[in-house]
Amino acid sequence: MLVTRCHSPISHRGITVIFIIGTVFLLTLLAKQEHNRGTRQYELPFGIGLAISAQDGVHAVKQCSPELDYLRRKEYGLTRNVVYRKRCIRGVYSQDVNSRDSVTEVESPLLGSRADVLDLDDECKSISSPNSPVEAQSCEPITLQVSEPFPTADLSNVIFGVATTLSRLQDSIPQFSHWLSGTGALFLAIVVDDSVTDDELDALESMYEAHDISLTTIRPWNCSFDVNEQHFAILHDLIDYSTHETQWVAIIDDDTFFPSPYSISQLLASHNASEPTYIGGLSESQGAVAYFGHMAYGGAGVFMSMPLVEQLDSHVEDCLAQSITRQGDGLLNDCIRNYTQTEFIAIPGLHQLDMRGDLSGFYESGTFPLSLHHWKSWHQAPVDKMAKIASFCGDCFLQRWKFGGDSILANGYSISQYQDGISQGELDLIEATWEEAMGYEATMGRMREKSGDGKKKSYRLIDAEEVDGSLRQVFVLHGASDMDLDGEEEAMDEVVELRWEWSKSD
Ligand SMILES: *[C@@H]1O[C@H](CO)[C@@H](O)[C@H](O)[C@H]1NC(C)=O
Ligand SMILES: *[C@@H]1O[C@H](CO)[C@@H](O)[C@H](O)[C@H]1NC(C)=O
Ligand SMILES: *[C@@H]1O[C@H](CO)[C@@H](O)[C@H](O)[C@H]1NC(C)=O
Repeated sequence: MLVTRCHSPISHRGITVIFIIGTVFLLTLLAKQEHNRGTRQYELPFGIGLAISAQDGVHAVKQCSPELDYLRRKEYGLTRNVVYRKRCIRGVYSQDVNSRDSVTEVESPLLGSRADVLDLDDECKSISSPNSPVEAQSCEPITLQVSEPFPTADLSNVIFGVATTLSRLQDSIPQFSHWLSGTGALFLAIVVDDSVTDDELDALESMYEAHDISLTTIRPWNCSFDVNEQHFAILHDLIDYSTHETQWVAIIDDDTFFPSPYSISQLLASHNASEPTYIGGLSESQGAVAYFGHMAYGGAGVFMSMPLVEQLDSHVEDCLAQSITRQGDGLLNDCIRNYTQTEFIAIPGLHQLDMRGDLSGFYESGTFPLSLHHWKSWHQAPVDKMAKIASFCGDCFLQRWKFGGDSILANGYSISQYQDGISQGELDLIEATWEEAMGYEATMGRMREKSGDGKKKSYRLIDAEEVDGSLRQVFVLHGASDMDLDGEEEAMDEVVELRWEWSKSD
């Protein structure tokens, strides 16, 4: 195949643009501080140990003990005073962990009685009990039976393809890294920016290489195609870059996330790669399926065996020329229908997530998703941090436990406290939290009404990090309280730190 790559002029404006963006960002940050009425505190840039708060103006801040200093991270954006709780969990690896269908009940409460109000600008000292150090918060671990970590995933038989911009590939390294690093998978990216330089592409490949990801960046073979069409046109490139090891070709969106690469390898192993095979996830939206078709939706991840891709190769140009549909996944589906005998196989765990708003009902439903999508656009979820737990106890990701009759841990996502408790019957239903959620019953399962105001208090995970062999999960509830008793509520965040340690059963 003769391939003429599009010409791309070299841009000298990059640095200027970055400088301007940087300046604007700083100004925005400072302006935001001025406008924030509450006690929210920000560290000044340049690490000069000063902070601005509406209370005290500019003041010197005092470091906290190493155990607590992480609370002062700028990206957390916590209020200066926070309500802080720490709980410890011992995950005991066990062969016969309860099935995820039922929620395991634990007698002891998860949040417990002691909570400290900490001043993050003053050594994280406890304002609420100044005579009893925060470190004295009991961390008697609660024991939970968990499954073993999954074996290391081998995806050396898969080539993944995406079409997107340079900046989105730069920004998404933590998420791609979660499921691609060390798997042996090939990752091929069409970079669609007009002005990207060879040096920028090389630098990007090196960044991925440093994360043990084998990324190859290329330019489109036809620049007239928009990014949606590129997601279909990439078929030619995926064949070009496949090796004798490649059995599966996957086309993904730049915001497709796989919580467990091992589960993807298992999914593929359960299908015959020697036969033409087309597998993926339907949209959860019946409206979308009625309109766009019964097909593999791109965001959920589309998997095709090599024999199918080879059949399609000679029809790519025809399909691009004939198709009325210009979406990559629709083009692919029509092309497969028009030129092959292969039937689409829908996999329920592959999620396009065509829902908007608050998806907590989905994440708290006890599901084990094979893929997630739209997590930084239609809804917001820190998927890579959420799925961190999967590296330690595999199937425990989004597994649920009930504590003290009223609190549910949806592992990696949230801790929810239900004022009137919650029954197993209710937990069997999905909470209808997102827009028009009741309309999704037919595709997602039975629903219950969204909890009323004040009936449910939820702490959402904002971070997860390995610390000395244990895993620290950080959950936050942006709340308010009247600390100085002046009759006016001020913003005060609540933080729950969960510390996971791991041990074998006996
Ligand atoms: C590129 O795409 C345009 C628009 O679809 C088409 O007219 C042109 O022939 C294509 N060029 C190549 C080299 O395929
Ligand atoms: C996979 O498909 C090939 C080709 O149809 C067939 O020869 C082989 O027996 C199949 N393997 C399994 C395990 O079914
Ligand atoms: C598939 O065939 C239909 C009917 O002939 C046609 O309208 C459509 O454009 C074709 N699509 C592709 C992608 O080939």
